[in-house]
Amino acid sequence: MKPSILVARAIFPAVLERLSEHFEVEANQKDEVFSPDELRQRLMGKQGALITGSARIHAELLQQLPELKMVANMAVGYDNIDLLACQKYHVMASNTPDVLNETTADFGWALMMATARRITESEHWLRAGQWEKWRYDSFLGPDLHGSVLGIIGMGRIGQAIARRSLGFNMRVLYHNRSRLSPEQEMAANQASYVSKEQLLRESDHVVLVLPYSAETRHTIAAAELALMKPTATLTNVARGGIVDDVALIAALREKRIAAAGLDVFENEPKFHPDFLTLNNVVLTPHIASASEKTRLAMAQRAADNLIAGLTGQRPPDLLTA
Ligand code: DGY
Repeated sequence: MKPSILVARAIFPAVLERLSEHFEVEANQKDEVFSPDELRQRLMGKQGALITGSARIHAELLQQLPELKMVANMAVGYDNIDLLACQKYHVMASNTPDVLNETTADFGWALMMATARRITESEHWLRAGQWEKWRYDSFLGPDLHGSVLGIIGMGRIGQAIARRSLGFNMRVLYHNRSRLSPEQEMAANQASYVSKEQLLRESDHVVLVLPYSAETRHTIAAAELALMKPTATLTNVARGGIVDDVALIAALREKRIAAAGLDVFENEPKFHPDFLTLNNVVLTPHIASASEKTRLAMAQRAADNLIAGLTGQRPPDLLTA
C-alpha cells in the first residue's frame, strides 16, 4: 500500500504525476484555500502533506493527526510551521532552500528599481491619459548607481542581492543576526557589517530579506522609519509582519521616506487598504520567487523531501526546532 498524502494547493501537473508514482495523492487542483478545519479533515489518515505558506501547522492540529509523518513546505520561509510542535508529535518538516535565491534576488532588484525610479506610478499616469508633454521634473527619483544599499537579513538571498550591486557601483551595508566571514563579505560586494540603526541612517535603499519570527516582527516600525533618510526607499521581499504596515503608511503619506516596494504584507492576501491611496508604493502579490523555472524547482524540491521522508530516508531539507 502506498502512503497517502495531501497536496494542499494546486501544483504543476508534472510534480503531481511524480508524487502519484510514490503515493496515493489527494490533490487540490481547483486551488481552494482550506479553512483550518477543512485542512484538518483532509489531513486525517494521511502520512504526508505538501503545503504552502497558507497552511498553518501547529500543535493543536498535529495532536489530532496521529498518522501524519511529514509536511513538506513549498517555500524557503517556514514561519507557518511550528517546529517545536512537529518535534513533539514526531512530524518531520522541510522547506525549499537555495533553489529560489537568484530569482528572489532578481526580483528584489526589480522591485527596488521600480520603487526608486517610479516605474509603476508613471505607467499608471501614462495609462490614465495624463501624458501631455515632457517635463524636466517629471517623476524624479533617487539613483540606484553610486548609492548606499542597506540589506537587513544577509542570508543566501541577501548575499545574492549584494553581489548584484557591484555593477551599480554601490556601497553595501548589512545587518544580520551574525556577521559573515571575511570571504563572504568580500563576495557580497565588500559588504560592511553595521548596526540596524547605522544601516537605516546611512542607506539610500533598504532591502529586507530576513525570516519572520516573533523576534523579527516589526523590525521596521515607526522608530526605525524615523531614522531613514527622507530620500530613501524601503523594499520588502521577506515576509509581511517584518514591517509595521500602519507605521509605514504614515511615513509614506507624510513623505518621511521617499517610497516603498512591497511584495509581502501583514495578513496577506489581505492588505491594508490605505496602501492603495498612496502613489509612492509599488505593490506586488508575493511573487518574488515566481519565475517558471524556480517555482517548478521549488515544487520538485518539496516533492524530493516528501518522497525521501516517507520512504525511510532523511529529507534533504529537514528542518529542526
Ligand atoms: C518563500 O519561499 O518563502 C517564498 O516567500 C514563497 O512563499
